Amino acid sequence: MILAGHLLLPDDDRPGHARLATGTVRLDGEQIVEVIECPADQFPQSIAAAGPQSLSTPGFIDTHLHLPQFDTIGAHGLPLLEWLDGVTFPAERRWEDPDYARGMTQRVVDQLLAHGTTGICAYATVHHAGTHAAMEVARDAGLRGVIGQTLIERHAPDFLSRPAAQLLDETARLLDAFPPDGSGVRSGGSSGGRVSAAVTPRFAITCTAEFMAEMGQLAAERDAFIQSHLAETVPECEFIAELFDGTSYVDVYGDAGLLTPKSIYGHGIYLDSDDRKSLAQTGAMIAHCPTANSFLRSGTMDRRSHRARDVRTTLGSDIGGGYERSMVRVGRAMIEAAASFASVPAKELPGASEAWWQITTGNAKALGWSDGGRLAAGASADVVVIEPDIRWLPAVDQPENEPLVDPLALLMWAWDDRWVKQTLVRGQPAYDTTSN
Ligand code: GUN
Ligand code: ZN
Repeated sequence: MILAGHLLLPDDDRPGHARLATGTVRLDGEQIVEVIECPADQFPQSIAAAGPQSLSTPGFIDTHLHLPQFDTIGAHGLPLLEWLDGVTFPAERRWEDPDYARGMTQRVVDQLLAHGTTGICAYATVHHAGTHAAMEVARDAGLRGVIGQTLIERHAPDFLSRPAAQLLDETARLLDAFPPDGSGVRSGGSSGGRVSAAVTPRFAITCTAEFMAEMGQLAAERDAFIQSHLAETVPECEFIAELFDGTSYVDVYGDAGLLTPKSIYGHGIYLDSDDRKSLAQTGAMIAHCPTANSFLRSGTMDRRSHRARDVRTTLGSDIGGGYERSMVRVGRAMIEAAASFASVPAKELPGASEAWWQITTGNAKALGWSDGGRLAAGASADVVVIEPDIRWLPAVDQPENEPLVDPLALLMWAWDDRWVKQTLVRGQPAYDTTSN
């Protein structure tokens, strides 16, 4: 298959930014085998898919979301800890039934693909069978990513709390079934899946230091991703200080061996310079979740300061604390959050080219997915075909009317999910409106 039209490519001249080009992308099986930049009048005669007005981008990557929370998006007005108790824990309880978890994950996967998301770092629930079922669904849909059984030992309702030994054993079994290299066998098919298990303490409030140290050991033995939450709200940080005798929140995780280059911590709003130093030194990442931070009124994360101190950052929707299923709009929220720091000069704010890069190449790079997040020969054929209905290119009969706005900014700020025409995973249409 050949896709032709506009392409979103990493800008090699400006690391951390994306750029637009015209050209063709040839797919063969599960891979992109060739990308050629050329003017539209040199496109091949028979274009199998897309066209000159279309934009093909790498599949979007969401580095922090909660699968069981898609049906509870929109519970506004509660701060984090009350929101967890009142809305989120009851929602997660429904995953006691693995069939419910399976059915819900299928609905979630359909939504992700319809929004162009092909890669995820996701939390399931504390339920082992439900998590296993969710991982099978995500893997069989062809998604790439890590999913974790959410580990809760204490400070949560009894119906969501489990003994540490049981949770460690269950996590180890998920790592057996879905190993970190993503080679888990796909049910009913010959090719391997791309979903692996992650060690996923919900946050340090729900786990003792001893339990987390065992998790750190397990993650090290298996070279597994670690996901958790960090410094999202002031009351949460105060509770951590109480539980861990004043040890800093970052050190609580560090002492347990949970700060590694494969650790992804959601939020990271309330961090001081020592915390940032520890994160930078260990390579642990902060998943910036701007829509959740504004929705739960947790605060505004200072991405610029984190990056200036070499803290690695990614971007995530944090559904359902976040309300936004489109990573393009989460990218937009990243710009808005940065702009809310009034003292930052406009020219130093991230622009659309940085946000487009972050939701594709940037997130992939941070996760070590060297063949993901890019339209390039050898990359996995995870591609979104987009057809904007606004005039984002000069009309064919009016080539002199050059755009007055950066086209990448126009597309991001005017974004409409109906523009997603096709989402390909491993070269196969997994969401397709073109056949209707
Ligand atoms: N902290 C612990 N659990 C959660 C969760 O589910 N969502 C958010 N936003 N923060 C958390
Ligand atoms: Zn979260």
